[in-house]
Amino acid sequence: MLLCRPAELPGPTWLLLAGLLLPFSAALEASGPLHRAVGSSVLLPGLQNITHSRSTRWEFLSGSGPQPILQHHGAVLPPAIHPAYTGRALFHPSNGSLLLEDVQESDSGTYRVTGDRESLEIQLEVLYPVSRPQLWASNLVAGAPGQLVCEVSEGRVDSISWRKDGQPLAPGRVSWLSSSSSVLLLSPAKRSDCGSYSCNASNGISWQETSLEVTIEGLSHRLKHTLRMAVVAVVFAVVSAWGLIIPVCQSQKLRIRGELWRWLSCYTCGLVCMACILDGTAGVLWMWEEGPSVAVILPEITLSYLTVVTFLVAITAIFQPADFSHLKSKKAQRAMGYAAPGAVLAVLLSSSFLIRSIYRRHEGGCTRFMDVTVLVASTAAVVALPLLAIGLCYQRTQSCPQEQDGSWIDKVSFEMSEPGPKDTIPS
Ligand SMILES: *[C@@H]1O[C@H](CO)[C@@H](O)[C@H](O)[C@H]1NC(C)=O
Ligand SMILES: *[C@@H]1O[C@H](CO)[C@@H](O)[C@H](O)[C@H]1NC(C)=O
Ligand SMILES: *[C@@H]1O[C@H](CO)[C@@H](O)[C@H](O)[C@H]1NC(C)=O
Repeated sequence: MLLCRPAELPGPTWLLLAGLLLPFSAALEASGPLHRAVGSSVLLPGLQNITHSRSTRWEFLSGSGPQPILQHHGAVLPPAIHPAYTGRALFHPSNGSLLLEDVQESDSGTYRVTGDRESLEIQLEVLYPVSRPQLWASNLVAGAPGQLVCEVSEGRVDSISWRKDGQPLAPGRVSWLSSSSSVLLLSPAKRSDCGSYSCNASNGISWQETSLEVTIEGLSHRLKHTLRMAVVAVVFAVVSAWGLIIPVCQSQKLRIRGELWRWLSCYTCGLVCMACILDGTAGVLWMWEEGPSVAVILPEITLSYLTVVTFLVAITAIFQPADFSHLKSKKAQRAMGYAAPGAVLAVLLSSSFLIRSIYRRHEGGCTRFMDVTVLVASTAAVVALPLLAIGLCYQRTQSCPQEQDGSWIDKVSFEMSEPGPKDTIPS
């Protein structure tokens, strides 16, 4: 009422009054928004001095202006409730509070209660509880950038907090992807990033937490293939080394000869050739991932050369046994005698270098090293079979040399069985 004629007051009195009124109006603001879950009830407190108010009015302040909820005049008449709220708004005349039942998201907003002289505004937020966050990691490889994503499908999310092994993560490492998902960037992923991560999504009424055990792979897919190739190359080289060593260890008289010797040489050279190819490819894959280096390029050149030589020898042994027998000239023999063992050695050296380098790379992550036992065992079994077969045939020719020699020469139409002086079949 005083405020109706403010102009009549002298300036300083007006200022003084405003100063007095300030704490009063501040007292009328509710402390913070009320949070409620969808479907629950909320008790909106009335004015403190209700006993001194003859009338009370509750309104909902929406975008389109105040919308009446109820009007109460004195203690005699029952409160007039707006049809939109009948059945779910309960007014307590004793203290002026309003109970709203079964609140929905659309009920979020500001409520105002007005008495005779004062009014109070209350903020209400009606929320769905947050659902359990989904926490997943991209393919995490040591040295490459990766990310962990925490996403909440339902419910408005007010905050997402991250922890690693129980310790809160610095908020700077985390960024929001959208209003309901948060991403933790690992750039690049390191061994120290391995551990148990959890993300806690919360809003005013609820929170949910999900954890994920995060491991960083030391090796990319390409390096795993590189490792497999290098391992298979080693197995090929070792098996063909047996094919080279066994005839040398046999005594001159019992040495494997003729057709069997041709097959043995052919198979051994073929195997060495494949080992060279595999090892060379593994080296190329390694450089593709790690960049070129002299330590890989030099063996690559050697391996290419040895691939060609062993390939030619193997091909000659299959298709031109005549030429193959001519190979037994001193020069050719030396080339052959050195090419295959040299290739075996080259493959073993460069493969072990590659495998060691790959093992070092693997230590950048925290997974276990790739298990290659099955690969080694199965490859060895498969490639050793022809050697075994040749060995068995040899055993048979040894046990019944008469019969074998005869049929051997009859069957074989190759010039090949016309061996050089060194390889004359004893008759
Ligand atoms: C007002 O009164 C009702 C019952 O008369 C009670 O349930 C409610 O808690 C009271 N409200 C406040 C804000 O005290
Ligand atoms: C309640 O009303 C009385 C008289 O109208 C006033 O003196 C008192 O300050 C009011 N109390 C509150 C908490 O507003
Ligand atoms: C998740 O966050 C909420 C809100 O910040 C907090 O109350 C709750 O304790 C947190 N949960 C865990 C397990 O830390």
